[in-house]
Amino acid sequence: MNPDTEQQDLAEPYLGGLLASLGLDVHYSRAEKDTLFFREETGREVPVLDFVGGYGSTILGHSNPEIVGYAKELLDQGVPVHAQFSKHPYANELAQKINAVIRREFATTESYSAIFANSGAEAVEIAMKHAEFDRVARLTELAGEIDGNIERARAAVAAGAGVDGSGSYGRLATASGVSFGAAMEEVIAAVRAANAPRLAAAPVFLAPEGSFHGKLVGSVQLTHNAGFRSPFSALAAQCRFVPVHEPDALAKTIESVRRTVFDLAVDDGAVRVVEREVPAVAAFVLEPVQGEAGIRVFDRRTAEHVRRTCEAAGIPIVVDEVQSGMGRTGAFFAASHVGLQGDYFTLAKSLGGGVAKAAVTLVRASRYRREFELVHSSTFAKDAFSTSVAIRTVELLEADGGRAYQLAAERGSRLADMLRKLQQEFGTVVKEVRGKGLMLGLEFHDQSDSSSEVIAEQARAGLLGYLLSGYLLRVHALRVLPTASAVNTLRLEPSVHLTNAEIARLEAGLRGLLTVLRDQDGAALLQA
Ligand code: F0G
Repeated sequence: MNPDTEQQDLAEPYLGGLLASLGLDVHYSRAEKDTLFFREETGREVPVLDFVGGYGSTILGHSNPEIVGYAKELLDQGVPVHAQFSKHPYANELAQKINAVIRREFATTESYSAIFANSGAEAVEIAMKHAEFDRVARLTELAGEIDGNIERARAAVAAGAGVDGSGSYGRLATASGVSFGAAMEEVIAAVRAANAPRLAAAPVFLAPEGSFHGKLVGSVQLTHNAGFRSPFSALAAQCRFVPVHEPDALAKTIESVRRTVFDLAVDDGAVRVVEREVPAVAAFVLEPVQGEAGIRVFDRRTAEHVRRTCEAAGIPIVVDEVQSGMGRTGAFFAASHVGLQGDYFTLAKSLGGGVAKAAVTLVRASRYRREFELVHSSTFAKDAFSTSVAIRTVELLEADGGRAYQLAAERGSRLADMLRKLQQEFGTVVKEVRGKGLMLGLEFHDQSDSSSEVIAEQARAGLLGYLLSGYLLRVHALRVLPTASAVNTLRLEPSVHLTNAEIARLEAGLRGLLTVLRDQDGAALLQA
């Protein structure tokens, strides 16, 4: 190997440089519950209290002994991790367990089929793909019905019926240029020509403003942050971002993308041109607690409004629980707090117990197209290791009558109380404390007009949250990071094991940080 390249960092080298500049370039070598450890040059192991929680992947803590023990057991047994296209009873077991939770939390009897994935974005893309598969199938059914109606109209005209120039004939004429009083075959040709592009048009997805659903080719288009999304717009179907808290905004957006196709109807001895609605929207995709938008909880009224509006328009709802799910908010599904039963649910992050990469998309029976299973797969999804670990994770969450959910709610409210106390004390610095259970956000007032050059400059560059993270790490051995799209909000997603002493440690560190910000002491933020 060339000795020069050997010295170079080749693994996402730019990011490495950025981490270094923010003081976040620490290599953690061990993890336990809510603590990550790194080694100093002297060899001393330094504990860091972790509130990032693997971006929400460690609801049961880092290196959970029961999960790790079970993972070892599986590997020691020689479990065939990769045995694709064979029987996977454990996959059914996981689906059954999650279905039992859905039945309980949403008081429903409807079952959900499970499609397996490897990451959150992949689970979202499976929902997108399935919704589009379903939409295309409905379009095909619609086109078939129109073909049948055209044949009936043709037969009626052959038997002496006339073509009625009223109804939607005028709109067909405008769309296709066909004249009034044209022969039947010309009308049919006009209907087909006008319909073809309308049936073939790309689907539209809808999502609330601020949404984050991943960074793959399809899912990144559902991610509101333009920096992540815009360079890749040409690669996938587009999303309309809806200000869902404004009444009528959703209905207006749906109205703006409505499309019809032309059809022919025969009644009272006449052929009439009519219009039929096309399913233009593939799905409405939402997070019950928006993570990257700065931890924003969907309220019951908005959830109910979204549900009704989508139901009236026949639009399926994808509830993305990748970050909010798995007990973090005090229930397995955060959407259950507001009674929002999705047509689809996505789970990932903590599903793998903080050890495996596992994700799943659940599709409601009344929407499910089983042929989808023949057109979607992944080498790694549904493997015995990650799926079995996921089963054990769900079992641990469900154990003792759902003690983990109670812990998440209780620990979360204790943490939130502490943050609210700091908000009262530092009202000029802290703007808001938001969230539910162990999914909390601490928002700072904008600092771009700070009297400290350092603070103002970093705030204007959108890097203040990371600068604060660097300070908390170096000075207080606390690991806290901002949300991806709302960089003035620090996110706190510890595990259910969080102790009172750890909450007190966070309080002391945050008090130090808030004092620095209140005093506009930029130099202190840079202190080593
Ligand atoms: N959906 C939601 C709600 C998410 O928060 C994320 C990831 C994804 C989908 C994508 O999952 O990373 O496994 O592909 N959120 C990360 C975060 C980036 O910072 O919380 P992925």
